[in-house]
Amino acid sequence: METGASAPAALHAVDLIRKKRDGGALDGREIGFLVAGAVDGSIPLEQLAAWLMAAWLRGLTLDETCSLAMAMRDSGEKFDPSRLGKVAVDKHSTGGVGDKTSFLVAPLAAACGVAVPMISGRALGHTGGTLDKLEAIPGYRTALSLAEFETVLKRCGASIVGQTPALVPADRVLYALRDRTATVENPGLIGASILSKKLAAGLDALVLDVKTGSGAFLRRREDAEYLAALMVATAEGAGTRTVALMTDMGQPLGRAAGNWIELVESVELLRGQRPPESEDLRELSLILAGWMVHLGGQAATPAAGYARAEAALADGSALGIFFEMVEAQGGDSSVFDDPAAFHKPGATQALKAWESGVIAGMETTAVGMAVQRLGAGREKAGEPVDPHAGILFHARRGERVEKGQVIATLFATNPARLQEPVVTLKEAIHIAKDVTDTAAEPLVSRVFTRESAEKYLRER
Ligand code: URA
Repeated sequence: METGASAPAALHAVDLIRKKRDGGALDGREIGFLVAGAVDGSIPLEQLAAWLMAAWLRGLTLDETCSLAMAMRDSGEKFDPSRLGKVAVDKHSTGGVGDKTSFLVAPLAAACGVAVPMISGRALGHTGGTLDKLEAIPGYRTALSLAEFETVLKRCGASIVGQTPALVPADRVLYALRDRTATVENPGLIGASILSKKLAAGLDALVLDVKTGSGAFLRRREDAEYLAALMVATAEGAGTRTVALMTDMGQPLGRAAGNWIELVESVELLRGQRPPESEDLRELSLILAGWMVHLGGQAATPAAGYARAEAALADGSALGIFFEMVEAQGGDSSVFDDPAAFHKPGATQALKAWESGVIAGMETTAVGMAVQRLGAGREKAGEPVDPHAGILFHARRGERVEKGQVIATLFATNPARLQEPVVTLKEAIHIAKDVTDTAAEPLVSRVFTRESAEKYLRER
C-alpha cells in the first residue's frame, strides 16, 4: 500500500546530547526540539545541562548558532517597536566587569531621538548583571509585560527589562543554567543568547560591545573576533542593521564593580561629574551611544552621534530620562539624592598596596569572581544578590602606587564573605617595581560592519 511521505522520526534528548558529544552538528529541527523542551519543561535540566556542556566542548557551527538564536527568539512573544514612531536601536555587551554602559547609553541615545527597548540579563559567570544592578533601586521592576514595556518606551524613550516567561523564555532558562554549569564561555552559546534577546525586541539597529582581554569571556582574540563577526552577520541576515565594536576589558570598566555602586558611578557621570577613574567608562559610553544615534538615523556619522550624545550629557537631558525610566518602572529615584546614605554594606575592608610600584595589569576575570563572591552574584539560580556588595577601585592600570596606599575598598554582605575575595584580589592585581611599558589595548580596537564581518567569516 502507498503510504506517502514518511513522518519525521521522533526526537529524543539523549540522542541529541550523544550526537553533539560525538562532534556532530544538530539541524534546525533538532535544536528547536531542545529549545521547546527547555521552555515547556519536557526536557529535564540535567539533559539540558549535558547538552550545553557537549556544545561548550565541541562548539556550535554557524548554522547551529543561527538555529539556536532564532529558536530562542521565537520561544516567546516578540516586541513590535513600530508603534513607538521612532527607530529602535539597542546596545548589548558580551559581558565584563564593572561594565555599566547600559545605564548611560540607553538614556543618552533616547535623549538624541531613538527608542531603546533593552532586554538585558542577570549576573553571568564572573560578570555582573544589568538587571541585578537595577534591582538595587528599591521598587525597580525588570519583569514588565510587553504592554508595560511599550508604555515606558513611549513615555521615556528607553526601558531596560529582563527575559520573562513570556519574553525570550528559552534564554531565561538556558542563561541561568549556563551560569551554574560553567558553560558560559562559548562563542555560539553567547552569540545565540545575545541575539535571541535583541531580535525578540524587533530592533531596527544594534550596537554590539564585544569585550577582549583578561576580563572577557572569550580570552583568545580570534574567538572574540569570531563572535563579533558571527553576531553581526546573523543579525544583519535577520534584517537588523548591526555593528560590533571590540573593546578592552583588561581591567574593570570605570571605578566601581558591584550592583548599587555601579549605578552610583553611572549617575555621577550623567550628572556631569568627571572622576578621573571613570573616564574610560564615560568615553566608551559616548562612543557606543554615538553609534546608536548614527544607526538610528539621528547623526550622519558615529562621530556626529558622539557629539550629540555628549551634548545630551552636558545639558542633563540623559539624566532626566534615566530618572524618568526608573520611576516609570516602579523605582524610587530619590535614593540617588544621597547615594552614600543608601549604601549599607554588611562589612567593608580597605585593600592597601603591599609594595610600591606601578599597577601593571589585572587578572580581570578573577577580579569579577571576587565581586561575585562578596555577594554581588549568586551561587544558585534564583538566589537574591546583595545590592551593596562590590569593589571600588582607587587606583587603575598604569598608575603609580605607594606601599600602604588604599588601592581598593571591598564591600561584602558580612565579614566572613570578605576573606576569599581579599586574597583573590591581591593575586589578581599585578604591581610591578619597574614598569616601562604599561601600554594597554586601545579602548576600541576594531569595528565590524556587515561587510567586514562577512569577509572575516568567508576567509576564516
Ligand atoms: N550576554 C548575554 O546576554 N548572554 C551571554 O551568553 C553573554 C552575555
